[in-house]
Amino acid sequence: MSLGSFLTMRPVVLYVSLGFLALGIGAWAQTAPGITEAEGDDTAIPFALPQSGPFNAAEIDIENDQAILDWFRSAHANAAAEAFSHWDDEGEINAACATCHSGEGFRDFYGLDGTQAGVVDGTIDVGGVVDCGTCHNAGLAKISEVTFPSGVVHPVTGVEASCLTCHQGRAAGATVLAATQGMADDEPNGELRFINPHYATAAATWLGGYGAAGYHYEGNAYSGRFFHARPVASCNSCHDPHTLEVQFEPCLTCHEANSPGDIRIARQSYDGSGDTTVGIRSDIQANADLLMSLLLDYTDDVVGAPAIYDATRYPYFFADANGDGAIDMADGRPVAYASWTPRGLRTAFNWKLVTADPGNYAHNPLYSLELLYDAIEDLSAPLGLDMDDLGLLR
Ligand code: HEC
Ligand code: HEC
Ligand code: HEC
Ligand code: HEC
Ligand code: HEC
Repeated sequence: MSLGSFLTMRPVVLYVSLGFLALGIGAWAQTAPGITEAEGDDTAIPFALPQSGPFNAAEIDIENDQAILDWFRSAHANAAAEAFSHWDDEGEINAACATCHSGEGFRDFYGLDGTQAGVVDGTIDVGGVVDCGTCHNAGLAKISEVTFPSGVVHPVTGVEASCLTCHQGRAAGATVLAATQGMADDEPNGELRFINPHYATAAATWLGGYGAAGYHYEGNAYSGRFFHARPVASCNSCHDPHTLEVQFEPCLTCHEANSPGDIRIARQSYDGSGDTTVGIRSDIQANADLLMSLLLDYTDDVVGAPAIYDATRYPYFFADANGDGAIDMADGRPVAYASWTPRGLRTAFNWKLVTADPGNYAHNPLYSLELLYDAIEDLSAPLGLDMDDLGLLR
C-alpha cells in the first residue's frame, strides 16, 4: 500500500503510529519520505507532504506498511479498549498493572528503557498500547526467563518473552490454596473474595500442569505443556503476530476441519454426550457449563447463600440472598458475593481460568479438561452426585 491510500483510508493511523514507532522502529519515521514528526505541538498532525512538488502521493512507499496496518487493526493497537483505557481517569497506569497494559510499562519492567529491571519504577502514561517496540526490541534477547503467578520460572527466547509475560494471568491455584489454607471446605468465610485469574490467559493454559496455573487437587496428575506438533510449537506459529488472527490454512496439513473450533483428534467423548463428530472445544465448553451450573447449585443447596454469575461485571459473582434470581443491590450497586467457601472458590477459579482463554482447546485441551473434571468431581460430593452417572471422562 502507498502513502496516499494509507492516509485516505485511515487518516489517524500515521498520527497514532508515529508516537509508538519513535520507541520501536525509530528508523522508519526518519527514513520514510515526506514524513516529519510533530514538533512539540500536540495539536499538530504529525505527517507532512513533501515540501515541493510535483508528486504523486500514491507512489510514495511506506516501509512496513502492511505490518503497521495489520497491527493497527488488531486488539493490541485498540487504545479505546478497556484493557488500555481503564486508567484514563487516573492519568497514569499503576505499577502493578503497567507491565501488561502498555508497551512503555513492559519496557520499564524489563529495564529495556535503561531503568532497573524487575520493577516498574517510572510513571507510565495512559494512552499506551502494545506498540511495535514491545516485540521489536533488541533488549528482548536478554530476557531468558519469565516468572508465572504460580512461581514457575519458564525459559524463553526472543519475542516469546513478550507474549508469555502479558498472557500469563495474575493468579494461580497456589494463590487460592494460600487464601483458603486451614479453612473447612464448605464453611463460608467473609474474608474470602473471588480470585480472578485475569484475562486472555493463553500462556497459562499452554504450559498446563507444568505451569501450574490451575488449582491442582492433591493426588491427581496433570498434563504438562501442550507440545502439539513441531511446526505449531510457538504462539506465532498459529497467530499472525500483527493481526493476531489464527492462520487456519496451515492447520489443514494435519487436521481435517472447517474451523479451528471443529478440530478433534480425541476418539472418546469427555462430556458424556458420546458425540465425537464435534470439535474438542465442544467437550470443554459443555464441561465448563456443567461446572458453572453445579457451582451455582452448590452455593444455593450446600452453602445456603445463592450466588449469581454475571459475565459483564467484575467481580462476576454476586449475592442473591433471597434466591429470587436477581442480584442484590445496595446503594444502587450490585453486591459482590461474600459467602465463599474454599470449595466454592477453588472450583470457581478453575472454571474462570479455563474460560478466560477462548483458545483453551488449541492451547491445551487436555489440561483444560482435567481442571474442569476435577472441579466437577470436587462439587459432586457435597451435592450428592455420582460421577459415574455424569458419564464424563477426565
Ligand atoms: C500479567 C499481565 C497483566 C497484568 C499484570 C495486569 N493485566 Fe489486566 N489484562 C491483561 C491482558 C492480557 C488483558 C486482555 C484481555 C482481553 O481483553 O483480551 C487484560 C485485561 C484487563 C482489563 C479488561 C477486562 C475486560 O473485561 O475487557 C482490565 C479492566 C484489566 N486488565 C485490569 C487490570 C488491572 C487493574 C491490573 C493491575 C492491578 C492489571 N489488569 C494487571 C494482562 C494483565
Ligand atoms: C505482539 C508483538 C508484535 C508487535 C506489537 C509488532 N510486531 Fe512486528 N513482528 C512480530 C513478530 C513475532 C514478527 C515475526 C518475526 C520473525 O518471523 O522472525 C514480526 C515481523 C515484523 C516485520 C517483518 C515482516 C513481516 O510482516 O513479517 C515487520 C516489518 C514488522 N514486524 C513491523 C512491525 C511494526 C511496524 C509494528 C508496529 C506497528 C510491529 N511490527 C508490531 C511481533 C510484533
Ligand atoms: C504488553 C503486553 C502484551 C504483549 C507483549 C502481548 N500481548 Fe497480546 N494482548 C495484550 C492485551 C492487553 C490484549 C487485549 C487488548 C484489547 O482488549 O484490545 C491482548 C490481546 C491479544 C489477543 C486477542 C486478540 C483479539 O482479537 O481479541 C491475542 C491473540 C494476543 N494478544 C496474542 C499475543 C501474542 C501472540 C503475543 C506475542 C507475540 C502478544 N499477544 C503479546 C497484551 C499483550
Ligand atoms: C495450535 C495453535 C495455537 C497456538 C500455538 C497458540 N494459539 Fe492462541 N489461539 C489459537 C486458537 C485456535 C484460538 C481461538 C481463536 C478463536 O476462537 O477465534 C486462540 C486464541 C487465543 C487468544 C484469545 C483470542 C480472543 O479472541 O480473545 C489469545 C489471547 C491467544 N490465543 C494467545 C496465544 C498466546 C500468547 C500463545 C502462546 C503462548 C498462543 N495463543 C498459542 C491457536 C493457537
Ligand atoms: C504438524 C501437524 C499439525 C499441525 C500443523 C496442527 N496440528 Fe493440531 N494437532 C496435531 C497433533 C499431532 C495433535 C494431537 C497432539 C496431542 O494430543 O498431544 C493435535 C491436536 C490438536 C487439537 C486437540 C484435538 C483433540 O481432540 O484433543 C487442537 C484443537 C488442534 N490440534 C488445533 C490446531 C490448530 C488450530 C492448528 C493450526 C493453527 C493446528 N492444530 C495445527 C498436529 C498438528
